[in-house]
Amino acid sequence: MKIIDEIPVAERRVFLRVDYNVPLKEGRVADDSRLRATFPTIKYALSQRAKIILASHLGRPKGKRVPELSLAPVAQRLAELLEQEVKFAPDCVGEEVGELVSTLKPGEILLLENLRFHEGETKNDPEFAKALARLADVYVNDAFGVCHRAHASVVGITEYVETCGAGYLLAREVKYLSSFLENPQKPAALVIGGAKVSTKIGLLMNLLPRIDKLIIGGAMANTFLIAEGFSLGTSFYEEEHLEEARKILSAAQEKGVKVYLPVDLVVANSKEAEKGENVSIFEVPENMAAFDIGKETRKLFTRALSGLGTMVWNGPLGLFENPAFAKGTIKVARKVAAENAITMAGGGDTLRALKEAGVSRAFSYLSTGGGAFLEFLEGKVLPGIAALEKK
Ligand code: 3PG
Repeated sequence: MKIIDEIPVAERRVFLRVDYNVPLKEGRVADDSRLRATFPTIKYALSQRAKIILASHLGRPKGKRVPELSLAPVAQRLAELLEQEVKFAPDCVGEEVGELVSTLKPGEILLLENLRFHEGETKNDPEFAKALARLADVYVNDAFGVCHRAHASVVGITEYVETCGAGYLLAREVKYLSSFLENPQKPAALVIGGAKVSTKIGLLMNLLPRIDKLIIGGAMANTFLIAEGFSLGTSFYEEEHLEEARKILSAAQEKGVKVYLPVDLVVANSKEAEKGENVSIFEVPENMAAFDIGKETRKLFTRALSGLGTMVWNGPLGLFENPAFAKGTIKVARKVAAENAITMAGGGDTLRALKEAGVSRAFSYLSTGGGAFLEFLEGKVLPGIAALEKK
């Protein structure tokens, strides 16, 4: 896979696929971290006086023009952050777009309208991919978050543009995640949380041979505890995955991975409760549910996370959106951030939780991917990366 500075971009039309699938609020970008994450690549392209054509999807409009999913607010925010004009095209293919591209001068930026307003994008339609390719001399993918999708702007387009490469964001994601898969600094730990174990089975199975410690929190831990025979009142768990949870625990034992599960929990009557009660896992009342890890568990987890070489985190350890249940995630995150280990995290909720804990900057690396982050760690070949490697 070639990186942008290994391919000729000077004064050429560079089609830069980015992942600006960002939250909007009242017509403005509510979180611009995905925009900022592409700046190293944009700034390099600007330094080379490239003609930059930015392309992204936003949401899932299913081939229809949905005004609320227009990228116009993104163009506005980009212009503010970059302190330069960002032109906005009313579509991503067609005559008018072709004309806008043809008038683009070196060092100028044009953002195309949402790629998914055309169904050819998600269908990886060759005609649509060709229409996108006609806009470009060079194709650069800096959209790690969408590399698990075999879409026209991620995969198809690489068939029709001769010169292709990766942006710095994509290269950095691949570097960190591959080094964790191939040669993690030991001891290595995985902190896993969130609601469902069912969405993380592939990831757990692929990572077990690579880690020394597995720390499980969030509602997912309930499924493991119930599989072990505990009664957790009305707590959420996945009945149909109890067997899977048992298999993961025995696979961990076989591989000599030490598993850490909660020893106490913060329970309440509802997730909107203003306050929870700290109880041991042996004493969860029948009419209550667990929403966070307890005090002793916080101590147990933070001790387990000392002196590590590498740590990967995915999924909050409790229902952190409610401050009454945020302590587990926040306290453990602060502890991890203060360690010398290589610390990595990914997933929308995880990143929001780390931000809340005020430790985002202390992490070695935060992935911009959600599904892509998980699939990479599951050991899957991501179509967007494979397409670049083929060139
Ligand atoms: C994401 O936010 O994870 C990416 O932009 C991918 O979006 P998608 O799940 O709609 O393909």
